[in-house]
Amino acid sequence: MEEKKARLKPQAEIEVIPEGPIRIKGNIILSDVRRDIFESPEGEIYLCRCGRSKNKPYCDGSHEK
Ligand code: FES
Repeated sequence: MEEKKARLKPQAEIEVIPEGPIRIKGNIILSDVRRDIFESPEGEIYLCRCGRSKNKPYCDGSHEK
């Protein structure tokens, strides 16, 4: 994995967490369906993919309930 990262030199890392959110680490621009722009605080965000978050597009931990 580390060798592949070094070769590809990605701008961001995206990790799908089993039974959880999608973690994105890196400098990105994220816009929702209304074209609202979200920043990635400290270069890392967790996006909800279960649909239960009350703070979409971010994960608020509701997937654990
Ligand atoms: S993935 Fe965490 S609240 Fe949806």
